[in-house]
Parts: sequence; structure tokens; C-alpha cells
Amino acid sequence: MKLLSTVLALIALVHAGLRFPCSTLTIQRLDPVVQPGVNPSAHVHHIVGGNAFNMTMIGDVGARATCTTCQMAEDFSNYWTARLYFKHPTNGSYHHVPNLPVQPLLGGSTGATGGITVYYTQFDLSKDNLKQQPITAFQPDFRMTVGNPATTGRAQVGLRYQCLSSSGGRGAEMPDFPTQACAGGIFTTHHFPACWDGKNLDSPDHQSHMYNTVASDGFTNAPKCPASHPIRMPQVTYETVWDTSKFNSMWTSGAPNPYVWSFEGSGGGTHADYMFGWKGDALQRAMNKSECFYDGCGSITKQAMATANKCTVKDMVGEETDGWLPALPGFAKSG
Ligand SMILES: *[C@@H]1O[C@H](CO)[C@@H](O)[C@H](O)[C@H]1NC(C)=O
Ligand SMILES: *[C@@H]1O[C@H](CO)[C@@H](O)[C@H](O)[C@H]1NC(C)=O
Ligand SMILES: *[C@@H]1O[C@H](CO)[C@@H](O)[C@H](O)[C@H]1NC(C)=O
Repeated sequence: MKLLSTVLALIALVHAGLRFPCSTLTIQRLDPVVQPGVNPSAHVHHIVGGNAFNMTMIGDVGARATCTTCQMAEDFSNYWTARLYFKHPTNGSYHHVPNLPVQPLLGGSTGATGGITVYYTQFDLSKDNLKQQPITAFQPDFRMTVGNPATTGRAQVGLRYQCLSSSGGRGAEMPDFPTQACAGGIFTTHHFPACWDGKNLDSPDHQSHMYNTVASDGFTNAPKCPASHPIRMPQVTYETVWDTSKFNSMWTSGAPNPYVWSFEGSGGGTHADYMFGWKGDALQRAMNKSECFYDGCGSITKQAMATANKCTVKDMVGEETDGWLPALPGFAKSG
């Protein structure tokens, strides 16, 4: 309760961007940004947002979707990361790790199921700076990724792990998986780059049309955009809670980290994908304001999470991704 009241006191003073929950929309082996049209894609994703999500996504997503699992009712974007699995230390079977909403949920946003908490910050967590640094919203058809599943070793700045205590406290930000069981689960953060080249809605690697200025942990303002990528965009961040509690007793003390992303890989391979889909100029309206935070702004329509939770997409892959599995979906059984 002390934490919650401290956060509320902070919010009363400051207004800087949007923060809202999006419930889980679907869990499937699809990736319309990196592997458009490919069904199934290489690895399983945990996806939130609008119901225009599909194996291929071209054009104005916000005009096509009819519902969203996000609290902001005009946000039909899709947000996704790899999914976390527990690899049994002795028998080698895999089990999916369920998601919990990020706590505390504020501003009438209770009732999210699983999902991702999404931020669009203008400057840092506690203020905007709109006079000196106006923010340009993304355009229809825009997409980007951050991180790379092929990365070995530790994650780049902006992609972080935290160990949650049983009371929900977050430990230090780390560039790799925790090395001991976390009573409250594993918290992952993905900060996207904020400088756009002003021309391309995508690029062959889905990253070079943006310039990554993220240089430190936390919600800091990214440094000045370079001449090659001069347009300052919202700083998009995802936060996800992975509920590891039911696996902790199977992690024998001293054994190495048993959690793996759905692409196997290393902790440094954590990555995230963004497909813009706000309706019309709704995101630009929000970014032009100093009054938007936590509960959104007056002009941005919100919906009850009970309504958001009804939004679904159909299973287009048709494979088991839950429960105990002999191998990660898309991977042959090892050894
Ligand atoms: C998804 O994409 C496929 C292939 O492009 C298409 O046939 C299908 O109608 C799309 N589904 C939805 C719900 O848009
Ligand atoms: C591995 O252990 C889990 C937990 O006890 C069990 O449910 C699963 O069936 C086991 N897998 C194999 C292949 O024995
Ligand atoms: C946002 O602000 C810019 C700069 O003041 C202005 O040109 C633009 O029309 C505004 N857009 C919206 C949707 O309010």
C-alpha cells in the first residue's frame, strides 16, 4: 500500500506520456513483422492489442481492427515478445510460463488478464518537454523491432530482467535471466528506439529506419536524435510479468537458470516487435498533450478491461503451445 500511495502521489504532480495495460490477445507462432505470410513462424509469441493481428499485416491496421485488448480503446496496435518457457532441469520437458498483469494497475485499469503494460513516453517517466521536443506519432503501416534472438550473451541496454520479490518489489535491472528463483516472478522490460529517419515505415532488418539512443536503464529521455534520424517519436516500452512461482520448487538450488525464451537462445536474445495501429490521429492527439498519464487523457477514449478482455483472434497455427511439451514449438526434441 505504501508503494501504491507513493506512485499515486507522483502521478498527481507529473504528466508524461501514456501508460496502460493490454491483456493477452493470443499466443501463436506468427510474426507479421519479421516473417510476414509465414505460418508457422520460427518461434512462439505472446501478443497483445488489436484483432487485425494476422500472419501478414499491411496498411492501416487502425482502420481494419474492430476491437483491442488494450485499455486505450483507439489503440489497435499489436505488441509482442517471445514467450517464456521453463525447461525442467532433469527431464528436459518444457512448460509455458503464464503472465500476470504488471502491478500496480492504476486509473481504473484493473481487470487485465496477463498481457503487457505499454508506455509511450515523451521525455522521461516524470515529465514531458513538449516545447523543446515535440513528439511525432507513428504513421499507418509503421513497424519496428528491438533486440535480436541471435544475440549471444547479455542483452543490450534497454532490454532488461528484474527479479520480483513475493511482495512485488523489483530487484536491480539485469542484462540476463536471474540466477536464483524469484518468488514473485520475472519482470522483463523492452525499450524501443525513439528517433525515426522520417521516410521509411520499415527497413530490411526492421530496425535501421530507427536510431537507438537508449543509453541507460530506466525511463530516461533518450539523447538528441542524430541528423540521419531526426524525427523524435514516442519512446515505446513494454513491461511483462512472467509468473514463475509454480516452477521455483523444481529449480534446485545452485543449478543454472532453467528459463528459456521460445527461441531457446540466450538471455541477450530477448526482443520485441511493434506494429502501429492507433485509429486516425489519436496517438498524435495524446502525444501533443501534457496531461496524459496512467489514466490517459480526457480526449483519449478508454474502455473497461472487462470489455478489452473479450477481444480475440482465431488460432491460425493449430499447435499445442501450453502444458508440458517434449520440445519448444517449432524445435525438434533435443538429445
Ligand atoms: C489473415 O490473412 C489471411 C492470408 O492473408 C487471409 O486469408 C485472412 O482473411 C486474414 N484474416 C483476417 C481475420 O483478416
Ligand atoms: C518432467 O517433469 C514434469 C514435472 O514433474 C512432468 O509433468 C513431465 O511429464 C516430465 N516429463 C517427462 C518427459 O517425464
Ligand atoms: C500536434 O501538434 C502539432 C505542433 O503543434 C500540430 O501541428 C498538430 O496539428 C497537432 N496534431 C494534433 C492531432 O493535435
